Amino acid sequence: MKILLLGKSGQLGWEFRRLLPILGDLIALDREELDLGDMAAIQKTIDELKPGLIINASAYTDVDLSEKEIELATKINALAPGVMAERSRKHSAVFIHYSTDYVFDGQKGSPYKESDPTYPLNMYGKSKLAGEENIKQAGEAYLILRTSWVYSLRGNSFVNKVLKWSRQNKILKVVSDQVSSPTWARTLAEITGFVLAEHKKDLYEEIRERSGIYHLTGGGYTSRYDWAKQILANDPERSEQIVQAIEPASSDEFPTPAVRPLFSALDCTLFEERFGLRLPDWRDTLQLAMTR
Ligand SMILES: NC(=O)c1ccc[n+]([C@@H]2O[C@H](COP(=O)([O-])OP(=O)(O)OC[C@H]3O[C@@H](n4cnc5c(N)ncnc54)[C@H](OP(=O)(O)O)[C@@H]3O)[C@@H](O)[C@H]2O)c1
Repeated sequence: MKILLLGKSGQLGWEFRRLLPILGDLIALDREELDLGDMAAIQKTIDELKPGLIINASAYTDVDLSEKEIELATKINALAPGVMAERSRKHSAVFIHYSTDYVFDGQKGSPYKESDPTYPLNMYGKSKLAGEENIKQAGEAYLILRTSWVYSLRGNSFVNKVLKWSRQNKILKVVSDQVSSPTWARTLAEITGFVLAEHKKDLYEEIRERSGIYHLTGGGYTSRYDWAKQILANDPERSEQIVQAIEPASSDEFPTPAVRPLFSALDCTLFEERFGLRLPDWRDTLQLAMTR
């Protein structure tokens, strides 16, 4: 099977690059090879390559900048996935896409199910929700996997930011009123890989039968404050930390251009039941991710 991976240099894309060659012939592209702001180029690339599986690990993920760069965020997060889904259908290719907990307003107070009404508070969430709608309209054999608080040990993730702050500050203040589920990019890629590897006969037919939106995150949930504490506790180079105290703060103390939902943990029961897989607890996964 020919596999097209988009967004190969992102947190999730990087993990897929390690994993997908096990499943088929991988063609992995980044922005220089295919600008996802160019819908005609997306169409042309897919038409020429005719992959049997398309995985979209790309997105416009700067939540605050999305408030300004609305047109660009809409292109990448809403229009491009629609084109990918439409071309996937045309070529009978399976389409895998990722969405976000930020499609919810965070007011529910318990983990969100797929059937709960959406109400994004910021442009990033709105653009990702529009992407979901476009895929549902244009696609046939697709999975939209909503996830949250994705991290890796590469790049500018929250984990790396906390490690950096701990070497620069004696006191760290981290918001304790934002709650969701930390999700290791590697786990997200691996669980997706299990789903794709599991098919018996015809991957397209089997995904078509289960097409839809599923919640897929690290197991359990926590506040950013408690997540930061766990990051410091798992730091393999703790002797480099100069931090002496970590203090809880409220989101009001750190105003940002984009409003974020306060409680946006996702209930992943539907995914676990439909695909027969268990999602490991976020604490165990974080510990593994940070072990050298
Ligand atoms: N990160 C989170 O906390 C989080 C939370 C919930 C859901 N998600 C979703 O999970 C998925 C994976 O997220 P991630 O954290 O792995 O994202 P990421 O690390 O920010 O990677 C996104 C990738 O998309 C690429 N991209 C952006 N604009 C592009 C364009 N115009 N043309 C081509 N490529 C472009 C980026 O390329 P460059 O490297 O060139 O910029 C980057 O490689 C996304 O769908 C995201 O919405 C993420």
